[in-house]
Parts: sequence; structure tokens; C-alpha cells
Amino acid sequence: MGRSTEKLTDKIRNGEVTVVKLTDSYAIKPFDCGVPDLNDFLFNDAKTHLRYLSSITYLVENKDKTIAYYSLLNDLLNIDSHTDKDFEKEISEIIEDKDYSFLLEMKEVSMYPAAKIGRFAVDTEFQRCGYGMEILNSIIISFLTNKTGCQFITVDALNNSNTLNFYEKNGFAFVTLSDYNKASRQMYKNLIALKNLEYM
Ligand SMILES: CC(C)(COP(=O)(O)OP(=O)(O)OC[C@H]1O[C@@H](n2cnc3c(N)ncnc32)[C@H](O)[C@@H]1OP(=O)(O)O)[C@@H](O)C(=O)NCCC(=O)NCCS
Repeated sequence: MGRSTEKLTDKIRNGEVTVVKLTDSYAIKPFDCGVPDLNDFLFNDAKTHLRYLSSITYLVENKDKTIAYYSLLNDLLNIDSHTDKDFEKEISEIIEDKDYSFLLEMKEVSMYPAAKIGRFAVDTEFQRCGYGMEILNSIIISFLTNKTGCQFITVDALNNSNTLNFYEKNGFAFVTLSDYNKASRQMYKNLIALKNLEYM
């Protein structure tokens, strides 16, 4: 672990680091994020998920190691009676007055188009260097420029203070309090608030 002075995006720009979409024949470079289940997914399950169109995995790597990986899939954010959040208030604050009828439409439904971060991990050697945050931002931007409508990013975050702190710091909120004691907690980030013509 440790602070790197150079940003990941600079390393990608100068070719030291590349982002690769996993394929069936790809030789995955060494990786250890300190969480056995997440290591195991990368080496034993990610290609199967790819074969059956369940999730697509992306590798961030240098010439020797996998620095990080993430797997993405489509999702629906389900806001129902079990959700203790004041979700209506949240969307009311984002939708412009001139789009009031659209706000009513949004309030009528309980499922919203989303993309899910199925798995996300940074190798222990590179944790706490700001890389996770940079990768998360690039994932978010990729869904702002997505080919299909995507209002939210969702994640089932590991229920430990480090991981929850990471997602909260990056603007994710809890869907419900009812998973407080579960192994993972449902979180989401609202993309509508980030919509910016610059990205479209
Ligand atoms: C969670 C994880 C993806 C974060 O990636 P990272 O590159 O280490 O995170 P960053 O360096 O970008 O951290 C950004 C901020 O998140 C928070 N954060 C990250 N790791 C933290 C930790 N171990 N303890 C407390 N806060 C942490 C901090 O606020 C940090 O900012 P700061 O360093 O300026 O205080 C990475 O630590 C990891 O892979 N952990 C193990 C697997 C895991 O939990 N994956 C998520 C599964 S849903």
C-alpha cells in the first residue's frame, strides 16, 4: 500500500498502464486484493460470466500485474416500500421545474434503469493510492455516455467500514437500512444529477 504521486490516468496516457476487456483466451496477470472471494471470482468465474453474458470484466494492468479489475452488468434500481429513503424528495430536487410531468412519471414507477458494479477490487500493493476513485469515476463517465438510458449506478458493497467509506466518499448512498447486518449492503449513485452536456 502507499501513496503514488502519479495519477492512474497519466499512467494510462503514457502507456504504462492499460485497460483491457477480458476475453476467454486472455492470460490474467497476478492479482491479490486481500479478499479471497474477489480474487477467486477473477481467476475462476469471470470468464464463465463473460461466456454467458452475465457480466463483463475489465482489467487495469501494467506489464507485470493486474492493478485492479471491475465487472459490470445491467441492473434495475428497485425503490419499493422496503426502502426507507425519501427517494421522492431526492428526485424532486433533481428534476427541473419545466419537466414536472416527467417527475410525476418517475414517481409512478418503482424500477429505474441502472448499471451495476458486480465486482470491483484493487490489488493490495496499489490500494489507497487514489486508483479506486479514478477507476470509479471512469466507470461513472462511461455510463453517462452509455448507449442506453442509465439513471443510477448500483453496487452491493462489502459490509466493512473501508469499503463503505470508499463508496460513501464517492457519492454512493444506501438503498435501505434493512441490510445493515448483511454481508453486503445495497448502494446507489444518482447519475441524473451528473448529467452534463459535455459528456453527451
Ligand atoms: C475498496 C477499494 C476498491 C478502494 O480502492 P482504493 O484504490 O484503495 O481507494 P482510493 O485510494 O481511491 O480511496 C479513495 C477514498 O476511499 C476511502 N478509502 C479507501 N480505502 C479505504 C480504507 N482501507 N480505509 C478507509 N477508507 C478508505 C478513503 O476515503 C479514500 O480517500 P483518502 O485515501 O484520501 O482518505 C480497494 O481498497 C479494494 O479493492 N478493497 C478490497 C476489495 C473491496 O472491498 N472491493 C469493493 C467490493 S464492493
